[in-house]
Amino acid sequence: MKLKFILPGILLCAAVSSFAQNAGSIVGVGKQVDPYHYQSVKSVTYNKACVASAHPIASEVGLVIMRKGGNAFDAMIATQLTLAVVYPDAGNLGGGGFLTARRSDGKLITIDFRETASSQATRDMYLDKNGNAQLNLSQDGHLSSGVPGTVAGLFAIHKYAKLPFSELIQPAIDLAENGYAISARAARELNSLKNEFLKYNTKPTAFVKSDPWKEGDTLYQPELAATLKRIRDHGAKGFYEGETAKLIVEEMKRGNGILNYDDLKNYVAKERPPITFSYRGYEIVSFPPPSSGGLLIAEMLKMIEKYPMSSYGFESVKSTQLMIEVERRAYADRAQHMGDPDFWKVPEKTLMSDAYLAERMKDYDPSHASKSENITAGVVHESDQTTHISIIDEEGNMTAVTTTLNNSYGSKTVVGGAGFFLNDEMDDFSVKPGVPNMFGAVGGDANAIAPGKRMLSSMTPTLVLKNGKPFMVVGTPGGTTICTSVFQSIVDVIDYNMSAADAVNKPKFHHQWLPDEVVIEKGFSPDVKDALEKMGYTCKNRGAIGRTELIKILPDGKREAAADSRGDDSLAGY
Ligand code: GLY
Repeated sequence: MKLKFILPGILLCAAVSSFAQNAGSIVGVGKQVDPYHYQSVKSVTYNKACVASAHPIASEVGLVIMRKGGNAFDAMIATQLTLAVVYPDAGNLGGGGFLTARRSDGKLITIDFRETASSQATRDMYLDKNGNAQLNLSQDGHLSSGVPGTVAGLFAIHKYAKLPFSELIQPAIDLAENGYAISARAARELNSLKNEFLKYNTKPTAFVKSDPWKEGDTLYQPELAATLKRIRDHGAKGFYEGETAKLIVEEMKRGNGILNYDDLKNYVAKERPPITFSYRGYEIVSFPPPSSGGLLIAEMLKMIEKYPMSSYGFESVKSTQLMIEVERRAYADRAQHMGDPDFWKVPEKTLMSDAYLAERMKDYDPSHASKSENITAGVVHESDQTTHISIIDEEGNMTAVTTTLNNSYGSKTVVGGAGFFLNDEMDDFSVKPGVPNMFGAVGGDANAIAPGKRMLSSMTPTLVLKNGKPFMVVGTPGGTTICTSVFQSIVDVIDYNMSAADAVNKPKFHHQWLPDEVVIEKGFSPDVKDALEKMGYTCKNRGAIGRTELIKILPDGKREAAADSRGDDSLAGY
């Protein structure tokens, strides 16, 4: 099976070659999505509506739901549920996420379905008796999981949808039950993680088999199908109570985890006020704490606003150095000031105020690298196992969801008998002040562990409006690089007038205060890198940063969409 990609305006994709034994097996959404013959579609301008997600089957399911009369909220729910089946590395039932949306009547909606720490969690639960952080426990296995929020989040989103939930979940059930052909990328990942899956599971799982996985193999997930059916038949209670809750708690007992029945039953998704601000006359709408994303992009965009970015030019030394310095300053604020607003007073207004940001930039020197304070530094993790979906429908409803298990396949633990991976989101807390998490991010009291608290996130599902009308839907996975990738994508479109495809695929760079280094994506100008090093920056190469899904609404109303070329990401629309 070769997944090929559509380049702008040219149909270069090839259907996945056939798997004769399964040729006829089609998802039950009007029999329009074939999970054995799919293709990645990378850049298309649609007339009315589109979905951009991490997997071709998921985007196709979202499209079919819109064609059946669903809106962008219906499509979002169906796409996310499908990703839980066809993209188990990050699509999930056992994780959490955020929705940023704008209804066509102008109502802004931000729904927080971030995981929470168990009622049994304690501030020092990952420290050994000598006070050393045991990151193996916060990053893998049963103890690394927070209480999953995704299912509660999808039901909270359903308030804005049109079709019955049972119709939105059925494609995911069919895919889990009847199987789908896995891509080369998925085969590679499943093979490389086999030993970890064996180590962190107490029961056999659908993701491990004796022979190596190969492209085109069928992945059947009957236990996940049964879980999805319980959700279809009993609503959120089909997950947080009854049989599924029992399976989760039994799994916890077998693996020394701490999630319990009350944690599950008491989980609630929350609507929160969005972060809104203007940048060069555009209105930006993004996610508030417990994500750091909205505040970080507000700080970074507002710090560069008085500089003539378009005359500096894309990927010039001047623009790159300025953006690195605002990234450094914003991420220093993240470590100190940001956490779950239900537990910590986040100074949102101050962080976004012109006076504060002008003060932050007082020591900015356009010819030299600043120095981050020297606290224990970590290594930026190369995994970006979160996933983003961008959708706009015919009416102009815009939905952006970023959702995550944290690491690739989360804790690596599948709930025995229930068929889904649990997150390892506890590592997004600061397990000990100054000790970097898997993304190299440090924190302190603001993001310390407490029972029921949500861990600080970087997920940044974002909308941009122009003259009060939809202009852009954007987001990406990438751990702490999420906020800098969204920041740079917005600058690419607004300041450099880039197409959606260029804004998504041009190389990115990232600075997060600590460690004091600039991470540079493959393809970035070597001359600019040399110039930065001469100014005192430490630069570190990295393969890929993020997997952005971006939809830009053109002046004639058409939807110019791009799915990231860094993965199997794909578009569907009309
Ligand atoms: N787990 C990645 C994030 O929420 O930022």
